[in-house]
Amino acid sequence: MITCSAPGKIYLFGEHAVVYGESAICCAVELRTKVHVEKSNDILIESTLGTTGIDYEIHPYVSYAIEKMQRLTDITGVRIRIESEIPVGSGLGSSAAVTVASIQALNHLYECGLSLEDIARTGHEIEKMVQGNASPTDTYVSTMGGVVMIPQRKQLPLLKCPIVIGNTNQFSSTKELVGNVANLRSEFPTIIESILFNIGQMSMIAEKFVHEGDYMTIGKLMNVNQGLLDAIGVGSAELSSLVYAARNSGAICAKITGAGGGGCIISLADDNTAMTIAKAIEDAGGEAIITKNTEEGVRLEPLNG
Ligand code: MEV
Repeated sequence: MITCSAPGKIYLFGEHAVVYGESAICCAVELRTKVHVEKSNDILIESTLGTTGIDYEIHPYVSYAIEKMQRLTDITGVRIRIESEIPVGSGLGSSAAVTVASIQALNHLYECGLSLEDIARTGHEIEKMVQGNASPTDTYVSTMGGVVMIPQRKQLPLLKCPIVIGNTNQFSSTKELVGNVANLRSEFPTIIESILFNIGQMSMIAEKFVHEGDYMTIGKLMNVNQGLLDAIGVGSAELSSLVYAARNSGAICAKITGAGGGGCIISLADDNTAMTIAKAIEDAGGEAIITKNTEEGVRLEPLNG
C-alpha cells in the first residue's frame, strides 16, 4: 500500500484576477487530503461519498486521474481510499489536493516516473476537464507547496503567523462564480477590468512585504482586496459576517479566499489572538480552523501513514 497526501490552499491575494492573467499570491496550508492506493482485482474508489468504480459523477477527479495514468501504465485493478481534512467545495482547494495526491500515489504504485511538474500539469488538465475554466493555481500550489506568486511561479517566504479560516459551510461553485465575474466584465469592461488589474497590482506590491514579514502591511492590502472582491460580486452576507467577526476580534485582516459566493474567509492572526478570532467566527455562525502555511506540497507518507 502506498499513501500520498497533498495540501489545500488559500489565496492571500488575487483570486478571480488570476483567471485573467493577473498576479496572485497563494499558499499551501496544513490541511491535507490523503490517498491510499493498493493493487487489487477491480478498480474501487472509496471516500465519504461512497464506494464506486470509475465514476465521473461521484468521484470525477480520481476517475480522471486513473484514466490519465492508464495512458502511461496498465491499471486494471486498484483500490483507492480517500481521507480528507479539507472541506469540499469550500474554496480551500480540496479538488486539486485529491487530484494531485491520487496522481502521485498511482505514480509511486506503478513507478511511472512523473516529475512534480508533470503532476501539476496533469492535475490542471483534470481540473479543466471537470470544472471548465480552472486556472493552474490550485494544482500547482498543492503539488509544490509553499507561498507562491502566480503566474510567475516564484516561491516566497512562508508567513509565520497563524491563519484562522472561517467556513460558512455554504457550497460554492467555482465554475458559476468565475462565470458571473465574466458576465459582469462583459457588461462593464472598463470598470471590471480595472478592478481585476488593481487586484493583480496588490499582489505585486505585497510581494516585498511578504519578503519582509510585514504582516500589518500585508493585512492592510488584504482588506483592500476584500473590498474589490465584494465589488466584483463574489461576496455574501455570510462571508461578510465572518470577515467582520474576525476583524472585530483582533485579526490583522480578513478576506474571502477562493471563488467566494460561499466557502471560506481567511484572517491573519498572532499567537495571542488566534483562539479569540476562532471563537468570534464560531459565534457568528461559521466553522473555524486554525492553521498555518506549509512548504510541503504533495508527499509520500511513511508506511502506515
Ligand atoms: C478558485 O479557487 C480561484 C479562482 O481564481 C478560480 C481559478 O483560479 O481557477 C476563482
